Amino acid sequence: MEPIIFTSGLKKTFRIGKVDVPALRGVDLVVQEGEFAGIVGPSGCGKSTLLHVLGGLTPPTSGKVLVDGNDFSSMSDGDRTRFRRHKIGFVFQRFNLLPTLTARNNIAIAQHIQGNGFNPHRFQAIVEMLGIQDKLNHKPYALSGGEQQRVAIARAVICEPKILLADEPTGNLDSENSQIALNMLRGLNRSFRQTILMITHNPDAAAVADRVLRMRDGRMLLD
Ligand SMILES: Nc1ncnc2c1ncn2[C@@H]1O[C@H](COP(=O)(O)OP(=O)(O)OP(=O)(O)O)[C@@H](O)[C@H]1O
Ligand SMILES: [Mg+2]
Repeated sequence: MEPIIFTSGLKKTFRIGKVDVPALRGVDLVVQEGEFAGIVGPSGCGKSTLLHVLGGLTPPTSGKVLVDGNDFSSMSDGDRTRFRRHKIGFVFQRFNLLPTLTARNNIAIAQHIQGNGFNPHRFQAIVEMLGIQDKLNHKPYALSGGEQQRVAIARAVICEPKILLADEPTGNLDSENSQIALNMLRGLNRSFRQTILMITHNPDAAAVADRVLRMRDGRMLLD
């Protein structure tokens, strides 16, 4: 069986002025298809950077990365964008909702961009599960942090991506809404064998994952 995510010696160094900031110092990671894995580790250890590289949003400095058998470094920008749209759902740590669009359109735009058209049935099911059906006409500035986060989760899962990369998806949710969001992710994982890689500081979130990966100083700690 081929792993759906594979990295070997993955490094990412940012450069600020003349200073190198190593964020990833050689990450070796294997995630099998259908796995629900959590990533934990101290602030600044490289968790978000790793997710951005796996999502094809940030190029690595060196090392090998294969996502569903694809090497982003040998793909054109267009192919990489198409791959991302069709295969990857991303929940950003800072949500990244489009400020001029309502919650409804922030979610629906993902389906439109993907090109499979709007699926009202799935849309309704997801927004009701997340409890945001009364907030769909609000723009992001008129949503609480937790509501924005739930819109961001809805946007990421609406297209049934093969791989969901979620950066602290419950970081702004109260315990009840955290549980709802986690149960939804668990359900998507079980029903569709959706692979999920989820960064979290939340022990409840780590507990729903099949496996918890620990990062420190830009590396994975061994299990
Ligand atoms: N665009 C960037 N330019 C320069 N340095 C960056 C950039 N993004 C991240 N870094 C640095 O890389 C390191 C890892 O950052 P990253 O955001 O991956 O941490 P994290 O583990 O997600 O932390 P947190 O739990 O606080 O979200 C940090 O030292 C950070 O300052
Ligand atoms: Mg982060």
